[in-house]
Amino acid sequence: MSENKIIISDHLVMDIAVFLSTLKYDKLFILTDTNTEEKCYPLLKDVPAIQQGRLLITPAGDTYKNLERVANIWRILSNEGASRHSLLINLGGGMITDIGGFAGATFKRGLQTINIPTTLMASVDAAVGGKTGINFNGLKNEIGSFYAPLCVFIDCRFLQTLDYPNLLSGYAEMIKHALICSPEHYASILSFDLDGEIDYVRLNKMVAQSVAVKERIVEEDPKEHGIRKALNFGHTIGHAIESLSFKQNEPLLHGHAVAIGIVCELYLSYKQVGFPSEKLTQVTHYIKEYYPSYIFDCNDYDALYEFMTHDKKNEGGIINFTLLSDIGKVHINQSVNKEVILESLDFYRESFGI
Ligand SMILES: NC(=O)c1ccc[n+]([C@@H]2O[C@H](COP(=O)([O-])OP(=O)(O)OC[C@H]3O[C@@H](n4cnc5c(N)ncnc54)[C@H](O)[C@@H]3O)[C@@H](O)[C@H]2O)c1
Ligand SMILES: [Zn+2]
Repeated sequence: MSENKIIISDHLVMDIAVFLSTLKYDKLFILTDTNTEEKCYPLLKDVPAIQQGRLLITPAGDTYKNLERVANIWRILSNEGASRHSLLINLGGGMITDIGGFAGATFKRGLQTINIPTTLMASVDAAVGGKTGINFNGLKNEIGSFYAPLCVFIDCRFLQTLDYPNLLSGYAEMIKHALICSPEHYASILSFDLDGEIDYVRLNKMVAQSVAVKERIVEEDPKEHGIRKALNFGHTIGHAIESLSFKQNEPLLHGHAVAIGIVCELYLSYKQVGFPSEKLTQVTHYIKEYYPSYIFDCNDYDALYEFMTHDKKNEGGIINFTLLSDIGKVHINQSVNKEVILESLDFYRESFGI
């Protein structure tokens, strides 16, 4: 289920040209959104095979990750004579790798796809691991499939045009990967300066480590029956916060909500399975330093708890958490009392002075 190859590239044009020259395909399509067509496609236009490809441009934004837009992609592929031996390159953030991956998985029962992620979120998360999908019926990622691309090319040079909120959003998943991985990885993530000039060379190396964490876990458990649930760390409460922010018409970026979820779920980890308090304080300080705080009060607790009970990952009506007894020590399928869950929301609000 995992990709055949993930290439962390320092010479993107050459690496892609070489890879494409080894592939057999009849037609080449490149899917972008309006932003990645303008900011990212020019970085690839020197690849001769890409110059001859057919460019498909879809509107930017998660609201367009829908059935209508997939149908549009299918229609163009069909009208242009795409076959099962055609190649679709998804050049963009998670919105593009999700919708393009899904369109590719389903067109003539699957053509070949390549992901070239252009956001940090897509580089360390969405473009790797083989999950594809679209939003449907008002629900996120309601329809989708597991479909691995042939290859994922990652190059942090794309991130130079990415706005700061989206950079932070992806970085939250990197914090998560470090917490579930190892003390060394954790130390490097928490020492990275997210203010001012971003060190893209160092970021590229850290992205490689982060991707390796996800790759290793997905390889072990591609369909999320067990250890892949480690990747949900921070997401039970994070998703609830994200849903609340949408309900209140002040939508948070996914990673910003996950950063809050990480603080709360580290608190649960401290209370339930003995996560060290000094590391809880360290991570909380780091997230407080860089991420915007989200204002909510105890009148929102019932709604947040309700969202958690509807989490897709629950089984038998029990809210399932992934908790950590230390950095890299993961415990899946942990149930926690409502009282302690609400206490973790108090902990976030007190720590952030809300
Ligand atoms: N399949 C998975 O495992 C998985 C995992 C995590 C997230 N996701 C999905 O990923 C999506 C979120 O991904 P995202 O955060 O990358 O959002 P996104 O793809 O919507 O990109 C965010 C914004 O940045 C713009 N952009 C992209 N690359 C840019 C660049 N290099 N320079 C300037 N602007 C650029 C986009 O046009 C968009 O406006 C969601 O749909 C989510 O469900 C999927
Ligand atoms: Zn996430």
